[in-house]
Amino acid sequence: MRKSLVAGLAILLASCSPKHSVVAGGEPNTGKNLVGWYGCGSCHEISGLPEAKGLVGPPLRRIARRVYITGSVPNTPANLMHWIREPRKVDARTIMPDMGISEQHGRDIAAFLYTLD
Ligand code: HEC
Repeated sequence: MRKSLVAGLAILLASCSPKHSVVAGGEPNTGKNLVGWYGCGSCHEISGLPEAKGLVGPPLRRIARRVYITGSVPNTPANLMHWIREPRKVDARTIMPDMGISEQHGRDIAAFLYTLD
């Protein structure tokens, strides 16, 4: 009973959540190149990028459909950008490194991640 209530709530949340596909000022094609440049694929499988095969972090796919990212942070463009730029400020224990990504690059990468199937 309780379990199905929780499952129902999760489905409700998922269906209510907006599909984040637009990051103001972010350019998805640039973001795609930057993901290659920063080597995100050494830790993540990324849908549509066959060379991105890393298994250290979770596969990056359907990010726009997620209610939460990293299992705890509400999925908003601002939170996704913050995670990309300073993951260790969001979660001090994560092994995802802060890579010195600029604000504009963070925008472009977030815009790209929101296009993933
Ligand atoms: C050294 C390995 C490593 C590198 C390099 C790395 N990540 Fe991560 N990433 C992780 C790990 C591990 C997690 C899971 C962290 C957690 O949930 O606390 C993660 C989580 C994420 C998430 C959240 C995924 C989800 O399912 O909620 C996103 C988005 C992300 N990374 C994007 C990137 C991007 C973009 C880059 C390149 C700029 C990158 N990562 C580079 C290891 C890495």
